[in-house]
Amino acid sequence: MQDIIQLHDRKFRIMIPAEKIDEAVTAVAERINRDYADKETPLFVGVLNGSFMFMSDLIKKIEFQNELSFVKLASYEGTSSTGQVKSLLGLNGSIEGRHVIVVEDIVDTGESIEHMLRDLEARRPASVAVCTLFFKPASYRKSYPIQYRAMEIGNEFIVGYGLDYDQLGRSLKDIYVVTE
Ligand code: IMP
Ligand code: MG
Repeated sequence: MQDIIQLHDRKFRIMIPAEKIDEAVTAVAERINRDYADKETPLFVGVLNGSFMFMSDLIKKIEFQNELSFVKLASYEGTSSTGQVKSLLGLNGSIEGRHVIVVEDIVDTGESIEHMLRDLEARRPASVAVCTLFFKPASYRKSYPIQYRAMEIGNEFIVGYGLDYDQLGRSLKDIYVVTE
């Protein structure tokens, strides 16, 4: 593990090592296992690209029968939100009457997740919950409850474990934070 890395024009320093991420993923998986133990085949819906690594580790710790799918929304440009969110792509088949757990890499202002939840709720699922690897409480501007937050951070910009800075950094197994 390197302490400082360069991605495009910015330097990032190590913030959360892989072992700590694994502990947080285990803890959130245990909560979901308890809450959904008696529910009929819940459906995990991962939001690409950022959630791929979190989903992969989370789902291995899920003990009930489940289904899994991925969808795609608009992505971020650089280190601040563009405020532009495209439509939801890739959800084939009905989710009516299903228990849906949306899996996100990070909920920042809440713009993306709100858009996603509006679209999902119009499809009449039995329930929708959100499981995010990271939550930024100081930036969150929406009222929709984010039930499962593996970790909370401040307003800093992070990369690694699926999260990118203009497409770089997704494959890092540790989390890095941008330096000034
Ligand atoms: P929101 O719509 O403002 O909640 O932003 C959500 C999306 O912005 C996430 O799914 C990420 O793609 C991106 N994002 C927000 N904060 C970060 C960060 O610190 N690092 C990398 N991507 C981020
Ligand atoms: Mg994302």
